[in-house]
Amino acid sequence: MQNFDYMTPTRLIFGKNCITQLPEVMTQFGRKVLLTYGGGSIKKIGLYDKVKELLPDFEIVELSGIQPNPKYDPSVLDGVKLCKENDIDVILAVGGGSVLDCSKAIAAGAKYDGDPWDLISYKVKAKAALPIVDIITLAATGSEYDPGGVISRTETNDKIGYVDPLLYPAVSFLDPTYTFTVSKKQTAAGCADAMNHIMEQYFCEDSTILNDGFMEAGLKSLMINAKKCLENPEDYTARAEMMLTCTYGCNRIYALGNSPSGWPCHGMEHALSAYYDITHGEGLAIITPRWMKHILSDKTADRFVKYGVNVFGIDSSLDKYEIAEKAIQATYDFFLSIGIPMHLKEVGIDESRIEEMAHHVAENEGLENAWVPLLEKDIAEIFTASL
Ligand code: NZQ
Ligand code: ZN
Repeated sequence: MQNFDYMTPTRLIFGKNCITQLPEVMTQFGRKVLLTYGGGSIKKIGLYDKVKELLPDFEIVELSGIQPNPKYDPSVLDGVKLCKENDIDVILAVGGGSVLDCSKAIAAGAKYDGDPWDLISYKVKAKAALPIVDIITLAATGSEYDPGGVISRTETNDKIGYVDPLLYPAVSFLDPTYTFTVSKKQTAAGCADAMNHIMEQYFCEDSTILNDGFMEAGLKSLMINAKKCLENPEDYTARAEMMLTCTYGCNRIYALGNSPSGWPCHGMEHALSAYYDITHGEGLAIITPRWMKHILSDKTADRFVKYGVNVFGIDSSLDKYEIAEKAIQATYDFFLSIGIPMHLKEVGIDESRIEEMAHHVAENEGLENAWVPLLEKDIAEIFTASL
C-alpha cells in the first residue's frame, strides 16, 4: 500500500428537497452571486425558478449557455469578466459536469489578473479562487466532489483537465429527483463515464482487498442502477444510488493507497472530444474494451481475472486468458446493452485524423507513464481498433 495525503473539503448535502438549505448555505459566502448554467435544462425542470425563489435577497448575475465539453472561449472568459465587473462573492453552478467544470475555471480566473489560460495550462499556479456552490443535475463526472474541471479550447484542439485543490466545490447539493429528466443517451453516457473512472483506478499495479471490493461494488451498482434508470427514469432509489456512486468517481476515495494508473482512457478520450466534440462517456465506452484488449498480457492478466470473476461472475476455474477475454467482451456487451454506439464511426469519427490525435495525446497526456505505457503507436492502434 502506497503513502497518501488526502483531504476533501466539500460538504455534500444529499437527498430529496435538500435544496431548501440553499439560502442558509449561500449566506456564508456573500450576497453577490454568479449563477452559471447550460442550455436550458434547468429551466425545463423548474430548478431555475426554484433557485430564484429561494434567493430573493441575493444579487444574481447570470452566465448561461455553457455547452457540453465547456469552452474556454466564450464561456470561461465571459464568466471571469462577469465576476470581475460585478465583484462576485460566490459562484452557484447549476447543471451537469460541464457547467460545474466551467465554473471551476471561472472561479480561479476571477482571482487572477492575467489570461485565465495561464492557469488552465499550468503555466501559472492559482493563488486563490472564488468559492463554488453547486446543484448537480446529471450523475456522471463526480465534478461535485473533486478538484478538477475539463476545459476545451477549440482553436488548438486542446481539452485539458485542470486540477487544483482550490477548485473543490465548497458545498454540493445532490438531489436525485433533478436527474429524473436526464435523457437515455446522457444516462448511459454518465454510467459509462463513472464506470471508467473506477476502471482507471482499478487497473493498476498495487491495490488492496478493501479498494478492490469498493470499486467492484461501484461497478456493479452502476450497471444495475443504470439499467433501472433507463427502464424507469423516475426510479428514485436507482437514481439516488447512481448519483452517489458517480460522486465518488474522481475524488480518489475509491483507490487511496493504490499505485497510480495514469488514467489512459481519459487521456485518449479527451482528444476525441476535443477534435470532434463527442459525448465524453460515449467516447470512453468505445475506447475501453479496445484498450483492455491492447494491454492484455502476462503483466495484466491476473487483474482482468479478478475483474471478470468479481464484477461479471465469470467462472474462476477457467484459464486466465479465457476469463480475461470474457471479461473484456462482457464490458463491451454491457455498454452496447445500454444503448451506447460502440464504434467511433457511429459518432462521426473516421480514420482521417487518427494519426494527428494519437500524436496530440502522446505529446500532452503523459501516457508513457501509465501502468501499461502507451506510446503514439499504441494510441493510434487503439483508436483504429475502435473505428
Ligand atoms: O446544457 P443543458 O441544457 O443543461 O443540458 C445538458 C447537456 O445537454 C443535459 N442535462 C444536464 N442535466 C440535465 C440535462 N438534461 C435533462 N435533465 C437534466 N437534469 O445533459 C447534457 C450533457 O451535460 P454535461 O454537463 O455536458 O454532461 P456531463 O455531466 O456528463 O459532463 C461532461 C463533461 O465533464 C467532463 C467531460 O470531459 C465533459 O466535458 N468531465 C469532468 C470531470 C471532472 N470534473 O471530474 C471528470 C470526467 O472524467 C469528465 O472528463
Ligand atoms: Zn470521465
